[in-house]
Amino acid sequence: MRWVKRKHRETIPVKTVLGIASCAFAAAFAWSLSAAAQTPAAESLSYSASGELIRPPDYREWVYVTSGLGMTYGPAQAAAEPAPLFDNVFVKPEAYREFLRSGTWPDKTMFLLEVRDADTNVSINNGGRTQGRLVRMEASVKDRQRFPDDGWGYFSFDSPQGLVDQAAPLPATATCYSCHKTNTAVDNTFVQFYPTLFDVAKRLGTIKPTYDPAKKP
Ligand code: HEC
Repeated sequence: MRWVKRKHRETIPVKTVLGIASCAFAAAFAWSLSAAAQTPAAESLSYSASGELIRPPDYREWVYVTSGLGMTYGPAQAAAEPAPLFDNVFVKPEAYREFLRSGTWPDKTMFLLEVRDADTNVSINNGGRTQGRLVRMEASVKDRQRFPDDGWGYFSFDSPQGLVDQAAPLPATATCYSCHKTNTAVDNTFVQFYPTLFDVAKRLGTIKPTYDPAKKP
C-alpha cells in the first residue's frame, strides 16, 4: 500500500512536467508558424559581418528555374571560350512559391546562376552535350534595405583561384545592374527565359510594360 501511494505521488509530477513541456512545444510551434507567415522569405539571406553575401552551400536543393545553352550576353560569357556553356538558374523556394502566387518577387529573393562546361562524348553518347565542370557562379538578391536604388544587388563568387566563399556586392556601375534593369520581363529578372514562370507572369499580368521581346541590348 505504501508502495502504491508512493508510486502515485511520483506519477503526478511526471505528468505535470510532460504537460508543461507539450504546452511549451505547442507555443513554440505556433510562434514559428506566425513568424513564417509574417515574413515569407525573410532570414533567408546570409551576409558576413562585413556585408559580403555567403555562397549558399545548399542551392542545389532550391527550385530549378531553367538552363540556357551557349547564351551570349554580358561578362558571364567570355568571347574567348570556343565551346558553348550551360547555365543553370536556381531560386530560393520561398521566393518561388510567392512568385507562383503573385507573379512578383518578394523582398529577400535570391537567385543563383551557375555556368558549366557543355561536354561531348562523355560515355555512351556520340551526339549531344551534357553538363560538366562548374565554371562560374553568380548571384542576385532582392534586398531593399541594402540596395535602396531599385532593390537588387549582384554578386560574383568567381576568382582566379576558383570560387570564393563570400562576395561583396558588385559596384552599381557593373553591367549586371543596367542589363538586368532594362532588358528583363519581370522586375529585374529574365523571366522571359523561364518558361513556366513566364506563363505565370502572363496570367497574373506582371510583365513590365517596357518589356519588348524584339529589343536587343
Ligand atoms: C547583357 C545582359 C546581361 C548582363 C550584363 C548580365 N546578365 Fe545576368 N542574366 C542575363 C540573362 C539573359 C539571364 C537569363 C538566364 C540565362 O542565361 O539562362 C540572366 C540571368 C541572371 C541570373 C538569374 C536571375 C535573373 O535575374 O533572371 C543571375 C543571378 C544573374 N544573371 C547574375 C548576373 C550578374 C552577377 C551579372 C554581372 C556580373 C550579370 N548577371 C550580368 C543577362 C545579363
